[in-house]
Amino acid sequence: MIKVENLTKRYAGQTAIDDLTFEVGKGEIMGFLGPNGAGKSTTMRILSSFMPPTSGRASVAGFDIFEKSLEARAHLGYMPENVPLYNDMRVTEYLDYRAALKGVAHRRIKERVGDVKELCGLKDVEKKLIGALSKGYRQRVGLADALVNEPDLLILDEPTSGLDPNQIRQVRDLIKNLGRQHTILLSTHILPEVEMTCSRVIIINKGRIEACDTPENLLHQMRSASGVVLEAKTGSDDGVEELKKVAGVKDVSLTSEGDWQIFSLRVEAGADVRSEVFQLASDRKWVVRELSQRKATLEDVFVEITHPDDA
Ligand SMILES: Nc1ncnc2c1ncn2[C@@H]1O[C@H](COP(=O)(O)OP(=O)(O)O)[C@@H](O)[C@H]1O
Ligand SMILES: [Mg+2]
Repeated sequence: MIKVENLTKRYAGQTAIDDLTFEVGKGEIMGFLGPNGAGKSTTMRILSSFMPPTSGRASVAGFDIFEKSLEARAHLGYMPENVPLYNDMRVTEYLDYRAALKGVAHRRIKERVGDVKELCGLKDVEKKLIGALSKGYRQRVGLADALVNEPDLLILDEPTSGLDPNQIRQVRDLIKNLGRQHTILLSTHILPEVEMTCSRVIIINKGRIEACDTPENLLHQMRSASGVVLEAKTGSDDGVEELKKVAGVKDVSLTSEGDWQIFSLRVEAGADVRSEVFQLASDRKWVVRELSQRKATLEDVFVEITHPDDA
């Protein structure tokens, strides 16, 4: 659905994206993840034909985005980072206008706009001035706009930025639903969002792709983030030293909570040390109230990839 080959964009003297190559298959929800300034918006603007790359090529639904820009754009709904809206138009009026602009047949506009208002939860505010809407509703108008010409591909640039947790959940659910019928490229720097919505993730940093895989595989590849927590009363000071001797344990740190000692164990990739730790605790007659595995999150992957030195 999207094919990107050796895409590079330089702004005056600065390389924003550097030789990007990736594909997004039909029906995928691809997360596009990276810190601020990584090049996410630049890539999305190029894919939506808003500006040309310095070099490289890209196609949408088989159409080269510059040689066949109109055909490519007919397949694509783009929601930019800061949705530009006309504040003095009413919601329905704006969407009607956008539908006409995008070439939706006149006789179909009412139905299409009705559908996207329904889908994006805009019925309650359809007669309101856009300028009077909350940020969450404005984002929904942006999404409805992107959907109005029935594109099969959606490019959404940080669709949940600036929303409160409830609104984020609503927009996330909406995107998940849309993913049943659309291919989606979704940029975000909110990590749980990607874990919950995306089938694959590209991690981009300083204009280069650092990783591209399913969230599960990225987690699996994590070298150091998984660990084990033991909360116990050992009645001695040598708990840390004892635990360090367990095979597969790389490091142990200790905090306390009242009488309880809380040991955090860093563990080698793939090692599961829980049964050995339990055995040790049992042999030493430690009183245990919790032994649990801390699962690596995508956040750990992200930090490890984009800031390998502080991980
Ligand atoms: N119009 C522009 N002119 C000059 N530099 C830009 C422009 N837009 C973005 N950049 C630079 O390109 C890099 C990538 O920016 P951007 O694509 O907006 O990143 P992201 O969306 O991942 O935060 C940044 O270093 C940014 O400062
Ligand atoms: Mg951006």
